[in-house]
Parts: sequence; C-alpha cells; structure tokens
Amino acid sequence: MNLSNRTAVVSGGSSGIGKAIVSRLHAQGWSVYTCGRDATKLAALARELPGVTTAVCDVSDRLAVRAFASAVAAAAPSVDFVVSNAGGLCEIDFTRSDLAGLDLSAELRNNTEGAINLIAEFLPGLRAASRASVLIVSSGYGLAPATRAPVYSASKAALHSLSKSLRRQFAPLGIAVTELIPPVVDTPATAHHKVPKLSAEKVAAQAVDGALKGLEEVRPGAVRFLPMLLRLAPRMAERVVAKT
Ligand SMILES: NC(=O)c1ccc[n+]([C@@H]2O[C@H](COP(=O)([O-])OP(=O)(O)OC[C@H]3O[C@@H](n4cnc5c(N)ncnc54)[C@H](OP(=O)(O)O)[C@@H]3O)[C@@H](O)[C@H]2O)c1
Repeated sequence: MNLSNRTAVVSGGSSGIGKAIVSRLHAQGWSVYTCGRDATKLAALARELPGVTTAVCDVSDRLAVRAFASAVAAAAPSVDFVVSNAGGLCEIDFTRSDLAGLDLSAELRNNTEGAINLIAEFLPGLRAASRASVLIVSSGYGLAPATRAPVYSASKAALHSLSKSLRRQFAPLGIAVTELIPPVVDTPATAHHKVPKLSAEKVAAQAVDGALKGLEEVRPGAVRFLPMLLRLAPRMAERVVAKT
C-alpha cells in the first residue's frame, strides 16, 4: 500500500509508546503530526525524525487542541489516522497523601478529557478521509484497577467505555475505533517501576498494525488473557492486577 500521502496525528509522540508509534508511521512513509507540552522534547524528536511535524499543545486544553487541528488542516485537509496516546500516571495513596496539596484530577483531564478533545477536534479531518482509523491508548488498569493508581485507573476505564461507544457512533462514517490496552511497557514513565515490561516498539507495531486492520482491541502481552480471566475468575484476576 502506498502510504506516502496518508496523514496521521499522534498525541504525545515525544516519548515512550507515542514516540514508537510516530517512528513506525514515519518509517512507513506517513505524514506524521504530533504534539506534547514540552518544546525541548518535541525539538529533539523533530531532529531525530526529519519530516515529522511537531506542535506544542496540551491535550487537556480544548482550544489548544482546536488550534493544533486547524494548523494540521491547513496542511492536510484529511486525516487518515488519529492516535490518542498522550497521558500519564500518578501514584496517589488517598490514605497517606496530603490530599489538600495534590491536583487530584490531572489524570482525568490529561488522559480522559485529552482523548475526548483530540478526537472531537480532529473529527472533521477524519470525516474528510475516505476511510479512517482512531486508536485510543487506554491501559490494562482500565479493565481492572491498580491499587497504587486509583485516579489513573478510573481515567482509563472511562477510555475503555468511550472506545466502545465511539466505535458504534463512527461505524456508519467509515471510521474504525481501536483500543490499545497495554500491560506495563518500558518507557521513561515506568523507569522507576521494577516489574517485567514489554518494549514500546513491540507494542507500537502491534497497535498500528491492529488499528489499520480495523481490530476493535489490541491487547499486547498478558493483557490478552485479562478479559477471559475477569469472566472466569474475577476476584483472582482483580487481585493480581491490583498489585502490579
Ligand atoms: N508505559 C506503560 O506501562 C503504559 C501502560 C499502559 C498504558 N500506557 C499509556 O500509554 C500512553 C503513553 O505512556 P508512556 O509510558 O509512553 O508515557 P511517556 O513516556 O511519559 O510519554 C507520554 C507522552 O505524552 C505526552 N503528554 C502527556 N500529557 C500530555 C498532555 N496533557 N498534552 C500533550 N501531551 C502530553 C508527553 O509529552 P509532554 O510531557 O512533553 O507533554 C509524552 O510525549 C499514556 O496514555 C499511558 O497512560 C502506558
């Protein structure tokens, strides 16, 4: 397939899973647009992958996402692939933390609202493509929550639900919605977390290939068994995931 005139937008492409997705699409000849909050990281990405277009944009800020979408639309009237990847995890122990001093809803804004903003603002571009795909990066913690990350897990459970509804709404438009549900992946965000991890490149390859095939879900590594375990032995499955 000739992908040289196909356009992809990836949020959070300056690091980790997003960067691996950007690299894969760039190597396949896509025109790739990505965003993040840190201009220095984006400049480093643009040097490493010439031709990738970067923009400073906080996805939790709808107007900033609208400006990003307008800039992309000026260069590329249709968008074939939107990847909502930007996000992060905070470990919040509600019983021990100084809750008064914490921003408790940052993950809901960055992970959940960020995905909603991105998809909404790029929908005109997706509709202009003859066939388009959306990839939403949630997490295994969206299926069964981690005790160490309650708000993060809730933010990803919301994305799991969002993916299902949007899949049904977008089907008549010819826009496929794929949810990437990763286990722990080796990225700068998990450097401190000493557990077995998948490589970001492997996860990106599975995710991009799965989304372009129109799969509903891509569940790399051990997460591929999670829905079945949650049906067969829900308490045991929840206990195992809770500790990871
Ligand atoms: N690593 C894992 O184990 C794992 C597992 C399951 C799911 N995930 C999900 O995968 C996604 C990527 O995670 P990662 O591990 O690759 O993290 P990462 O290495 O920290 O990369 C996160 C990327 O998102 C950007 N970003 C974060 N918040 C943003 C915002 N509000 N607006 C715009 N850009 C933003 C970051 O750039 P700036 O900081 O410059 O904004 C960076 O480019 C996240 O949604 C995460 O929840 C990760």
